[in-house]
Amino acid sequence: MNILGIETSCDETAVAWIELVDQQMMVRDSLVSSQIRLHERFGGVVPEIATREHLKNLPLLTKNIFKKNNLSAKTLDAIAVTSGPGLPTALLVGVSFAKALGVALRKPVYGINHLEGHLYSPFISMAPSEGLEMAIDPLSFPAVALLVSGGHTLLIHLRNWGDYHKLGGTVDDAAGEAFDKVARMMGLPYPGGPEIERWARGGDENAIEFPQSFPERDNFNFSFSGLKTSVRYFLEKNPSYRSEEKLKKNLCASFQKAVIDVLVRKSIRALQYTGSQNLILAGGVACNRVLRDQMKLQLQRNSLKLHLAESQFCTDNAAMIASIAGEKILQGIPPSLVGDFDPNFKISSLSS
Ligand code: KG4
Ligand code: ZN
Repeated sequence: MNILGIETSCDETAVAWIELVDQQMMVRDSLVSSQIRLHERFGGVVPEIATREHLKNLPLLTKNIFKKNNLSAKTLDAIAVTSGPGLPTALLVGVSFAKALGVALRKPVYGINHLEGHLYSPFISMAPSEGLEMAIDPLSFPAVALLVSGGHTLLIHLRNWGDYHKLGGTVDDAAGEAFDKVARMMGLPYPGGPEIERWARGGDENAIEFPQSFPERDNFNFSFSGLKTSVRYFLEKNPSYRSEEKLKKNLCASFQKAVIDVLVRKSIRALQYTGSQNLILAGGVACNRVLRDQMKLQLQRNSLKLHLAESQFCTDNAAMIASIAGEKILQGIPPSLVGDFDPNFKISSLSS
Protein backbone atom coordinates (compact mmCIF):
# COMPACT_ATOMS: atom_id res chain seq x y z
CA MET A 1 0.00 0.00 0.00
CA ASN A 2 1.36 3.43 -0.99
CA ILE A 3 -0.14 6.69 0.28
CA LEU A 4 0.62 10.29 -0.60
CA GLY A 5 0.19 12.67 2.35
CA ILE A 6 -0.58 16.41 2.17
CA GLU A 7 -0.43 18.87 5.09
CA THR A 8 -1.20 22.61 4.95
CA SER A 9 -3.01 23.33 8.23
CA CYS A 10 -0.69 26.06 9.52
CA ASP A 11 2.67 27.43 8.39
CA GLU A 12 4.32 24.32 6.94
CA THR A 13 3.56 23.05 3.46
CA ALA A 14 4.34 19.33 3.46
CA VAL A 15 3.98 16.28 1.22
CA ALA A 16 5.11 12.72 1.92
CA TRP A 17 5.08 9.28 0.40
CA ILE A 18 4.65 6.33 2.74
CA GLU A 19 4.59 2.64 2.03
CA LEU A 20 3.21 -0.15 4.17
CA VAL A 21 5.88 -2.86 4.44
CA ASP A 22 5.52 -5.90 6.74
CA GLN A 23 2.66 -4.27 8.67
CA GLN A 24 4.72 -1.16 9.35
CA MET A 25 4.52 2.35 7.89
CA MET A 26 7.77 3.33 6.20
CA VAL A 27 8.37 6.89 5.18
CA ARG A 28 9.86 6.78 1.69
CA ASP A 29 10.11 10.54 1.40
CA SER A 30 8.94 13.53 3.43
CA LEU A 31 9.25 17.11 2.15
CA VAL A 32 8.52 20.15 4.31
CA SER A 33 8.66 23.76 3.23
CA SER A 34 8.68 25.88 6.37
CA GLN A 35 7.50 29.49 6.35
CA ILE A 36 9.01 30.38 9.72
CA ARG A 37 11.30 33.07 8.30
CA LEU A 38 8.34 34.84 6.63
CA HIS A 39 6.24 34.98 9.81
CA GLU A 40 9.13 35.69 12.16
CA ARG A 41 8.94 39.49 12.04
CA PHE A 42 5.22 39.41 12.96
CA GLY A 43 5.88 37.26 16.06
CA GLY A 44 3.36 34.61 14.93
CA VAL A 45 1.64 33.07 11.91
CA VAL A 46 -0.15 35.48 9.52
CA PRO A 47 -2.95 33.44 7.86
CA GLU A 48 -2.92 35.39 4.55
CA ILE A 49 0.82 34.87 4.11
CA ALA A 50 0.54 31.18 5.06
CA THR A 51 -2.23 30.62 2.51
CA ARG A 52 -0.35 32.35 -0.32
CA GLU A 53 2.74 30.30 0.42
CA HIS A 54 0.78 27.01 0.42
CA LEU A 55 -0.74 27.97 -2.94
CA LYS A 56 2.72 28.57 -4.35
CA ASN A 57 4.59 25.67 -2.73
CA LEU A 58 2.16 22.75 -2.66
CA PRO A 59 2.20 22.13 -6.46
CA LEU A 60 6.01 22.49 -6.46
CA LEU A 61 6.55 20.01 -3.60
CA THR A 62 4.10 17.53 -5.11
CA LYS A 63 5.77 17.67 -8.50
CA ASN A 64 9.11 17.27 -6.78
CA ILE A 65 8.14 14.17 -4.75
CA PHE A 66 6.73 12.45 -7.86
CA LYS A 67 9.80 13.25 -9.95
CA LYS A 68 12.45 12.49 -7.31
CA ASN A 69 10.98 9.07 -6.54
CA ASN A 70 9.72 8.09 -9.96
CA LEU A 71 6.25 7.89 -8.45
CA SER A 72 3.35 7.34 -10.78
CA ALA A 73 -0.40 7.16 -10.37
CA LYS A 74 -0.01 3.38 -10.74
CA THR A 75 2.13 3.19 -7.58
CA LEU A 76 -0.31 5.15 -5.41
CA ASP A 77 -3.31 3.62 -3.65
CA ALA A 78 -4.66 6.71 -1.91
CA ILE A 79 -4.13 10.35 -0.96
CA ALA A 80 -4.47 11.54 2.67
CA VAL A 81 -4.89 15.22 3.46
CA THR A 82 -5.27 17.22 6.68
CA SER A 83 -8.87 18.40 6.79
CA GLY A 84 -8.69 20.12 10.21
CA PRO A 85 -8.17 21.60 12.71
CA GLY A 86 -6.19 24.55 11.41
CA LEU A 87 -6.35 27.90 9.64
CA PRO A 88 -9.44 27.87 7.37
CA THR A 89 -7.90 29.23 4.19
CA ALA A 90 -4.70 27.21 4.66
CA LEU A 91 -6.75 23.99 5.02
CA LEU A 92 -8.80 24.96 1.97
CA VAL A 93 -5.65 24.99 -0.19
CA GLY A 94 -4.59 21.47 0.84
CA VAL A 95 -8.06 19.93 0.65
CA SER A 96 -8.88 21.47 -2.77
CA PHE A 97 -5.51 20.40 -4.16
CA ALA A 98 -5.89 16.84 -2.82
CA LYS A 99 -9.41 16.54 -4.22
CA ALA A 100 -8.27 17.71 -7.65
CA LEU A 101 -5.31 15.31 -7.56
CA GLY A 102 -7.63 12.48 -6.55
CA VAL A 103 -9.90 13.17 -9.53
CA ALA A 104 -6.94 13.45 -11.92
CA LEU A 105 -5.25 10.26 -10.68
CA ARG A 106 -8.51 8.42 -9.90
CA LYS A 107 -7.50 7.69 -6.31
CA PRO A 108 -9.55 7.92 -3.09
CA VAL A 109 -8.82 11.00 -0.94
CA TYR A 110 -9.05 10.63 2.85
CA GLY A 111 -9.56 13.59 5.19
CA ILE A 112 -7.32 13.27 8.27
CA ASN A 113 -7.48 15.02 11.63
CA HIS A 114 -4.18 16.87 12.12
CA LEU A 115 -4.01 15.98 15.83
CA GLU A 116 -4.55 12.31 15.07
CA GLY A 117 -1.58 12.59 12.72
CA HIS A 118 0.55 13.97 15.58
CA LEU A 119 -0.51 11.03 17.82
CA TYR A 120 0.84 8.62 15.23
CA SER A 121 4.20 10.43 14.82
CA PRO A 122 6.21 8.19 17.23
CA PHE A 123 5.35 5.15 15.12
CA ILE A 124 6.91 6.26 11.85
CA SER A 125 10.46 6.30 10.64
CA MET A 126 12.34 7.01 7.43
CA ALA A 127 12.70 3.76 5.47
CA PRO A 128 15.98 2.17 6.61
CA SER A 129 18.80 1.67 4.16
CA GLU A 130 19.19 -1.83 2.81
CA GLY A 131 19.95 -4.58 5.29
CA LEU A 132 18.90 -2.55 8.32
CA GLU A 133 15.86 -3.55 10.32
CA MET A 134 13.36 -0.87 11.28
CA ALA A 135 12.27 -1.51 14.82
CA ILE A 136 9.51 0.60 16.32
CA ASP A 137 7.58 -0.75 19.28
CA PRO A 138 3.89 -0.84 18.42
CA LEU A 139 1.48 0.82 20.82
CA SER A 140 -0.42 -1.23 23.40
CA PHE A 141 -3.83 0.10 24.36
CA PRO A 142 -5.11 1.73 26.48
CA ALA A 143 -2.67 4.60 26.21
CA VAL A 144 -2.45 8.31 26.97
CA ALA A 145 -1.12 11.01 24.65
CA LEU A 146 0.26 14.38 25.65
CA LEU A 147 0.01 16.57 22.57
CA VAL A 148 1.90 19.83 22.98
CA SER A 149 2.19 22.21 20.06
CA GLY A 150 1.82 25.88 19.18
CA GLY A 151 -1.95 25.56 18.99
CA HIS A 152 -2.78 22.69 21.35
CA THR A 153 -2.07 21.23 24.77
CA LEU A 154 -4.14 18.10 25.18
CA LEU A 155 -4.21 14.95 27.27
CA ILE A 156 -6.02 12.20 25.38
CA HIS A 157 -7.04 8.69 26.40
CA LEU A 158 -6.63 6.27 23.46
CA ARG A 159 -8.58 3.02 23.51
CA ASN A 160 -7.58 2.20 19.94
CA TRP A 161 -6.57 4.06 16.80
CA GLY A 162 -9.61 6.14 15.99
CA ASP A 163 -11.05 5.90 19.51
CA TYR A 164 -10.07 8.97 21.54
CA HIS A 165 -11.39 10.58 24.69
CA LYS A 166 -10.19 14.01 25.77
CA LEU A 167 -9.07 14.04 29.41
CA GLY A 168 -8.10 17.69 29.55
CA GLY A 169 -6.55 20.59 27.74
CA THR A 170 -5.41 24.13 28.15
CA VAL A 171 -7.95 26.70 29.25
CA ASP A 172 -5.91 29.55 27.76
CA ASP A 173 -2.52 29.49 26.00
CA ALA A 174 -1.08 26.32 24.48
CA ALA A 175 2.33 25.24 25.83
CA GLY A 176 4.11 26.19 22.60
CA GLU A 177 2.28 29.51 22.54
CA ALA A 178 3.53 30.24 26.08
CA PHE A 179 7.11 29.53 24.94
CA ASP A 180 6.58 31.82 21.92
CA LYS A 181 5.07 34.67 23.98
CA VAL A 182 7.68 34.56 26.75
CA ALA A 183 10.45 34.47 24.12
CA ARG A 184 8.95 37.60 22.59
CA MET A 185 8.98 39.37 25.98
CA MET A 186 12.64 38.44 26.25
CA GLY A 187 13.35 39.87 22.78
CA LEU A 188 14.05 36.42 21.32
CA PRO A 189 12.94 35.50 17.77
CA TYR A 190 9.95 33.37 16.71
CA PRO A 191 9.41 30.46 17.19
CA GLY A 192 10.32 30.90 20.83
CA GLY A 193 10.45 27.26 21.97
CA PRO A 194 13.83 26.34 20.47
CA GLU A 195 15.23 29.77 21.49
CA ILE A 196 14.20 29.39 25.13
CA GLU A 197 15.57 25.86 25.18
CA ARG A 198 18.92 27.12 23.81
CA TRP A 199 19.13 29.97 26.36
CA ALA A 200 18.07 27.69 29.21
CA ARG A 201 21.11 25.48 28.65
CA GLY A 202 23.52 26.14 31.50
CA GLY A 203 20.99 28.32 33.34
CA ASP A 204 19.84 27.67 36.93
CA GLU A 205 16.30 26.29 36.73
CA ASN A 206 15.75 26.97 40.44
CA ALA A 207 16.81 30.64 40.22
CA ILE A 208 13.24 31.97 40.03
CA GLU A 209 10.20 30.22 41.41
CA PHE A 210 7.35 30.78 38.94
CA PRO A 211 3.81 29.62 39.83
CA GLN A 212 2.57 26.33 38.34
CA SER A 213 -0.90 26.04 36.92
CA PHE A 214 -3.80 23.94 38.23
CA PRO A 215 -1.87 21.79 40.66
CA GLU A 216 -5.09 20.17 41.98
CA ARG A 217 -5.14 16.40 42.07
CA ASP A 218 -7.93 15.29 39.74
CA ASN A 219 -7.75 17.95 37.13
CA PHE A 220 -6.26 17.27 33.69
CA ASN A 221 -6.50 20.85 32.45
CA PHE A 222 -3.62 23.23 31.93
CA SER A 223 -3.28 27.00 32.18
CA PHE A 224 -0.20 28.91 31.11
CA SER A 225 -1.42 32.49 31.09
CA GLY A 226 -0.73 33.02 34.83
CA LEU A 227 2.83 31.85 34.34
CA LYS A 228 3.21 34.14 31.32
CA THR A 229 1.91 37.11 33.35
CA SER A 230 4.33 36.35 36.21
CA VAL A 231 7.21 36.41 33.73
CA ARG A 232 5.96 39.78 32.44
CA TYR A 233 5.77 41.31 35.96
CA PHE A 234 9.12 39.79 36.85
CA LEU A 235 10.74 41.38 33.78
CA GLU A 236 9.14 44.76 34.52
CA LYS A 237 10.70 44.70 37.99
CA ASN A 238 14.00 43.13 36.88
CA PRO A 239 14.83 44.41 33.36
CA SER A 240 18.43 43.18 33.62
CA TYR A 241 17.08 39.63 33.10
CA ARG A 242 16.47 40.67 29.48
CA SER A 243 20.01 41.81 28.83
CA GLU A 244 22.53 40.10 31.12
CA GLU A 245 23.46 36.74 29.69
CA LYS A 246 23.60 34.78 32.94
CA LEU A 247 20.29 36.19 34.23
CA LYS A 248 18.64 35.60 30.86
CA LYS A 249 19.73 31.95 31.02
CA ASN A 250 18.36 31.61 34.56
CA LEU A 251 15.00 33.08 33.57
CA CYS A 252 14.66 30.80 30.51
CA ALA A 253 15.62 27.73 32.55
CA SER A 254 13.19 28.60 35.38
CA PHE A 255 10.31 29.26 32.97
CA GLN A 256 11.03 26.06 31.03
CA LYS A 257 11.08 24.05 34.27
CA ALA A 258 7.71 25.49 35.36
CA VAL A 259 6.11 24.35 32.07
CA ILE A 260 7.78 20.94 31.95
CA ASP A 261 7.07 20.02 35.59
CA VAL A 262 3.35 20.43 35.12
CA LEU A 263 3.32 18.56 31.78
CA VAL A 264 5.17 15.59 33.29
CA ARG A 265 3.15 15.50 36.50
CA LYS A 266 -0.23 15.56 34.75
CA SER A 267 0.82 12.97 32.17
CA ILE A 268 1.75 10.50 34.89
CA ARG A 269 -1.49 11.19 36.71
CA ALA A 270 -3.46 10.59 33.49
CA LEU A 271 -1.69 7.27 32.95
CA GLN A 272 -2.55 6.18 36.49
CA TYR A 273 -6.15 7.38 36.19
CA THR A 274 -6.78 5.45 32.95
CA GLY A 275 -4.78 2.38 33.95
CA SER A 276 -2.48 2.86 30.95
CA GLN A 277 1.17 1.86 30.70
CA ASN A 278 2.02 3.80 27.54
CA LEU A 279 2.46 7.52 26.95
CA ILE A 280 2.74 9.17 23.54
CA LEU A 281 4.55 12.51 23.62
CA ALA A 282 3.89 14.44 20.41
CA GLY A 283 3.71 17.91 18.83
CA GLY A 284 6.29 20.64 18.26
CA VAL A 285 7.08 21.18 21.98
CA ALA A 286 8.05 17.48 22.16
CA CYS A 287 11.25 18.52 20.31
CA ASN A 288 12.38 20.00 23.64
CA ARG A 289 15.29 17.90 24.98
CA VAL A 290 14.64 18.69 28.64
CA LEU A 291 10.97 17.68 28.31
CA ARG A 292 11.96 14.47 26.49
CA ASP A 293 14.59 13.56 29.13
CA GLN A 294 12.43 14.47 32.13
CA MET A 295 9.42 12.57 30.81
CA LYS A 296 11.56 9.52 30.09
CA LEU A 297 13.16 9.59 33.54
CA GLN A 298 9.92 10.04 35.47
CA LEU A 299 8.08 7.39 33.45
CA GLN A 300 10.91 4.90 33.95
CA ARG A 301 10.74 5.52 37.70
CA ASN A 302 7.07 4.52 37.55
CA SER A 303 7.68 1.54 35.19
CA LEU A 304 5.74 3.28 32.42
CA LYS A 305 6.66 3.39 28.75
CA LEU A 306 7.31 6.45 26.59
CA HIS A 307 6.70 6.62 22.82
CA LEU A 308 8.56 9.58 21.38
CA ALA A 309 8.66 10.83 17.81
CA GLU A 310 11.94 11.65 16.07
CA SER A 311 12.35 15.44 16.16
CA GLN A 312 11.70 15.80 12.40
CA PHE A 313 8.26 14.19 12.92
CA CYS A 314 7.33 16.18 16.07
CA THR A 315 6.74 19.37 14.10
CA ASP A 316 4.16 19.51 11.29
CA ASN A 317 4.78 17.05 8.46
CA ALA A 318 2.76 15.02 5.96
CA ALA A 319 4.29 11.62 6.77
CA MET A 320 2.22 11.41 9.98
CA ILE A 321 -0.95 12.28 8.00
CA ALA A 322 -0.38 9.57 5.39
CA SER A 323 0.72 7.01 8.02
CA ILE A 324 -2.32 7.27 10.29
CA ALA A 325 -4.49 6.79 7.19
CA GLY A 326 -2.45 3.65 6.39
CA GLU A 327 -2.67 2.36 9.99
CA LYS A 328 -6.44 2.74 10.03
CA ILE A 329 -6.85 0.95 6.71
CA LEU A 330 -4.62 -1.83 8.09
CA GLN A 331 -6.82 -2.12 11.20
CA GLY A 332 -9.96 -2.29 9.10
CA ILE A 333 -11.09 1.20 10.23
CA PRO A 334 -11.17 3.00 6.88
CA PRO A 335 -10.60 6.75 7.27
CA SER A 336 -13.39 8.99 5.95
CA LEU A 337 -13.28 10.14 2.38
CA VAL A 338 -12.59 13.85 2.36
CA GLY A 339 -15.65 16.06 2.24
CA ASP A 340 -15.12 19.60 3.40
CA PHE A 341 -12.41 21.01 5.65
CA ASP A 342 -13.20 21.77 9.30
CA PRO A 343 -11.09 24.40 11.11
CA ASN A 344 -12.45 23.15 14.48
CA PHE A 345 -12.25 19.41 13.78
CA LYS A 346 -12.37 17.78 17.27
CA ILE A 347 -10.30 14.65 17.66
CA SER A 348 -12.87 13.12 20.03
CA SER A 349 -15.47 13.36 17.23
CA LEU A 350 -13.65 10.49 15.49
CA SER A 351 -14.76 7.98 18.16
CA SER A 352 -17.85 6.07 17.17
O1 KG4 B 1 3.45 21.10 16.14
P1 KG4 B 1 4.01 22.41 15.69
O2 KG4 B 1 5.12 22.39 14.65
O3 KG4 B 1 2.90 23.31 15.05
C1 KG4 B 1 1.60 23.37 15.54
O4 KG4 B 1 0.77 22.55 15.10
O5 KG4 B 1 1.39 24.26 16.41
O6 KG4 B 1 4.49 23.21 17.00
C2 KG4 B 1 5.09 24.47 16.96
C3 KG4 B 1 5.33 24.93 18.40
C4 KG4 B 1 5.83 26.38 18.51
O7 KG4 B 1 5.07 27.04 19.49
C5 KG4 B 1 7.27 26.22 18.96
O8 KG4 B 1 7.75 27.29 19.76
C6 KG4 B 1 7.21 24.93 19.75
O9 KG4 B 1 6.32 24.10 19.02
N1 KG4 B 1 8.54 24.29 19.84
C7 KG4 B 1 9.21 24.13 21.00
C8 KG4 B 1 10.46 23.56 20.65
N2 KG4 B 1 10.51 23.38 19.29
C9 KG4 B 1 9.30 23.83 18.82
N3 KG4 B 1 8.88 24.42 22.26
C10 KG4 B 1 9.78 24.15 23.23
N4 KG4 B 1 11.02 23.63 22.97
C11 KG4 B 1 11.40 23.33 21.71
N5 KG4 B 1 12.60 22.82 21.48
ZN1 ZN C 1 0.75 20.47 14.39
